Amino acid sequence: MAMRRGVWGILKEYLSFRRHSLPKGGHGIHSPFVYDLYTSVISNDVKGEAYADIEKYRKELLRCDIGIIRKSVAESLNGGFRGELVKLSQLARSVAVPPHLGRLLYRLVNHYKPQNILELGTSVGMSSLYIAKANPAGTLYTIEGDEAILGIAQKRFDILGLKNITPCCGIFDTELPRLMKDLERIDFVFIDGDHNGTKLLQYFEVILPKLHPESVVVVDDIRWSDDMEQAWSELASNEAVSISIDLFRCGILLFRDGIAKQHFNLRYGPY
Ligand SMILES: C[S@@+](CC[C@H](N)C(=O)[O-])C[C@H]1O[C@@H](n2cnc3c(N)ncnc32)[C@H](O)[C@@H]1O
Repeated sequence: MAMRRGVWGILKEYLSFRRHSLPKGGHGIHSPFVYDLYTSVISNDVKGEAYADIEKYRKELLRCDIGIIRKSVAESLNGGFRGELVKLSQLARSVAVPPHLGRLLYRLVNHYKPQNILELGTSVGMSSLYIAKANPAGTLYTIEGDEAILGIAQKRFDILGLKNITPCCGIFDTELPRLMKDLERIDFVFIDGDHNGTKLLQYFEVILPKLHPESVVVVDDIRWSDDMEQAWSELASNEAVSISIDLFRCGILLFRDGIAKQHFNLRYGPY
């Protein structure tokens, strides 16, 4: 895996992003389509009751000292097993999407009402909960390579009575092509997996034939490392992508017909 950027690397990126992004409020967005999406969905962030049980779950995890043996994806691939003891509190703090990103996913899914939703990287299920709650009529297929962690997520899906989640246990390299065979089209994708630029581009190529003009793809941690940022730029330049929106932490790709290809750096949440 490429080296994760340190604090100074992220700060440098952030200063550059601030210089090249449009101010909050939507002024300067010349595309009516993107202006509307930004003002009515992306930046229309209101904390509310809809998310209360998900954030209660986060608080429970943050207080939880129980450890699980995490089996890394590399170990799954090699068939070996050493395992690493990790506390649930640590996972909630370091890998789960933060509340502002969870709410963004909720609003996007609630707005577009996608039927077939794909998530790469379930972990403890924080993003899955936001996505699944936003559209009970859609189905979320979420893939996770670590069985123990997926078990924790599944338990919460059951407690909250979310019936529209289909968890898939296995590595993306095998689960993704298998799922693609079963699904005719994919309407919404959230990629929050192994933070490897080469892999990200490979997964995108597998998913691409199932995307359509109304599909939405959200990629998390686009500035995690140099190679993730490079991969994000390549995705944004892909000829199938009409609109790419860089929100600093994550990026959104749209595939609309009849819209001139454009890229936007927009501010959202703490950025
Ligand atoms: C950043 S976490 C996902 C966090 C989750 N979206 C949330 O908000 O709670 C990434 C997860 O992807 C899983 N993962 C990484 N690479 C994988 C791969 N190649 N195949 C399957 N799972 C993978 C990891 O085990 C980890 O649990």
